[in-house]
Amino acid sequence: AIDPEFENNRDIAEEHEGHNVWGPVEEPETLGIHGTHVAVDFDICLADGACLEDCPVDVFEWVDTPDHPESEIKADPAHEDQCIDCMLCVDVCPVDAIDVDPG
Ligand code: SF4
Ligand code: F3S
Ligand code: ZN
Repeated sequence: AIDPEFENNRDIAEEHEGHNVWGPVEEPETLGIHGTHVAVDFDICLADGACLEDCPVDVFEWVDTPDHPESEIKADPAHEDQCIDCMLCVDVCPVDAIDVDPG
C-alpha cells in the first residue's frame, strides 16, 4: 500500500503536469508517487481503473508508463485541485495505491 507518510519519507524529485512527483524515480521501473493532496503510488498502481470510473469530478487521467513492471498505464491525479475529498478512489483501489489527505 502507499505510504501515508510519504511527504515525510520522500523528497520531491520532479514535477509532472503541474503536480509533484515524490521520488525515488528511475525510469522505467521506478516511477514514484504522483500528486500530493491526491497521491497515486505509480509503483503500486496496476491500472485497475476503478478510480477513473468512480471519481465524481474526474481527477484522474491515464498516462503511459511503458516498461513499468506493474502496468503500462497509470492513473495520474492530473486535476488533484478539483478533489472534493469523497474518498471513493481510496476505497475502490484494489491495491491501495491512492492516498487522499483531506485538509
Ligand atoms: Fe475523486 Fe473523491 Fe478521490 Fe478526490 S477523493 S480524487 S473527488 S474519488
Ligand atoms: Fe491504479 Fe488503483 Fe486506480 S490500481 S488505476 S490507482 S484503482
Ligand atoms: Zn503525474
